[in-house]
Amino acid sequence: MKALVLAGGMGTRLRPLTHAMPKQLVPVVNKPVLFHGLEQIARAGVTEAAVIVGDWHREIREAVGDGSLFGLEITWIQQEAPFGLAHCVLLAREFLADDDFVMYLGDNVFSDGIADLADAFRRTRPDAQVAVVRVPNPEEYGIVEAGPDGRVTALREKPRAPRGNLAVAGAYFFSPLVHDAVARIEPSLRGEWEITDAIQLMVAEGRDVRAAEITGWWRDTGRIDDILDCNRLLLDRLETAVAGTVDEASTVLGAVVVEPGARVVRSHLRGPLVIGAGSVVEDSYIGPHTSIGADCVLTDAGLSHTIVLDRATVTDVNGIHGSVIGRSARVGISPPGDGRHRLVVGDHTELRVLA
Ligand code: DAU
Repeated sequence: MKALVLAGGMGTRLRPLTHAMPKQLVPVVNKPVLFHGLEQIARAGVTEAAVIVGDWHREIREAVGDGSLFGLEITWIQQEAPFGLAHCVLLAREFLADDDFVMYLGDNVFSDGIADLADAFRRTRPDAQVAVVRVPNPEEYGIVEAGPDGRVTALREKPRAPRGNLAVAGAYFFSPLVHDAVARIEPSLRGEWEITDAIQLMVAEGRDVRAAEITGWWRDTGRIDDILDCNRLLLDRLETAVAGTVDEASTVLGAVVVEPGARVVRSHLRGPLVIGAGSVVEDSYIGPHTSIGADCVLTDAGLSHTIVLDRATVTDVNGIHGSVIGRSARVGISPPGDGRHRLVVGDHTELRVLA
């Protein structure tokens, strides 16, 4: 089985972060979200993967390298613009040849990986198999209707009046029969070649399409709150590992990772949390579900349920919660007596200060 990993797209829902990086490289527990996916693909026994990239191809290629980090042999495929998930299959036709493959959305994370799903596909070998999960907001996903035996009877992309709440999660398993369907669909109203339309065509023509309900959780990290939530869920299974230093005046509770070269001084750490390599935390409180990237400086700061990207600085500000702080960003207070806020806010940034 080969893998087709989708890492193109615009990431508009993740602005302002995606003004500076592709959404697939936004870190979750200090690792690009795409890396979590590539690891899961390798664990499913796949060794050859093609990665679809768009405007951010340079950054993604540089981060992923030749794939040996994951045990994958990687072929890069450039997509001119995000013309849709089925368009990605069209572009990869030569790479995929007549092999079975898993199409994996590069901004998705499955708590239990995709190895069991891959095994189920290999074992039962239907014409296609989509991973599905029940969601509270079905109008935001591809929605599947399936019989009690798991056989799919209909599929619709982001329906306004959804029938059921069984959403397509980001792992699709295909036999080469999908290529024929992909070649025959038309772009949707939003101008994209939808993979749901291709699968619907297979269903309509009597092909055996199966829905495999996933165990555990699944997150599409398309929005800031999803990223924070995914970070929280992954941190919940963290095990303590302190390679950096924590001085005796500091306290540590719960699972904590302090990466090499990081220093914690006179601070309170309440895990699960991770402090990235070379970061310095002084006189601060770092609360649960927080990831601090590399080379950050936190002084007299208080943060929880937050992601801080590399080289950011937080000084004298407490009560930061549910936040994402971008690379090399600086958060601090005005000089004493100033009484005013100073804001240098980038495009599409969100700021909420205390009333
Ligand atoms: O997250 C699950 C959902 O993913 C499914 O329920 C939907 O049926 C499916 O269409 C898809 O919807 P999204 O709106 O979330 O897709 P998104 O545009 O975020 O694209 C998913 C990934 O594929 C993302 O990493 C970007 C990449 N992509 C997307 C398009 C449209 C490409 O590489 N090329 C593209 O042309």
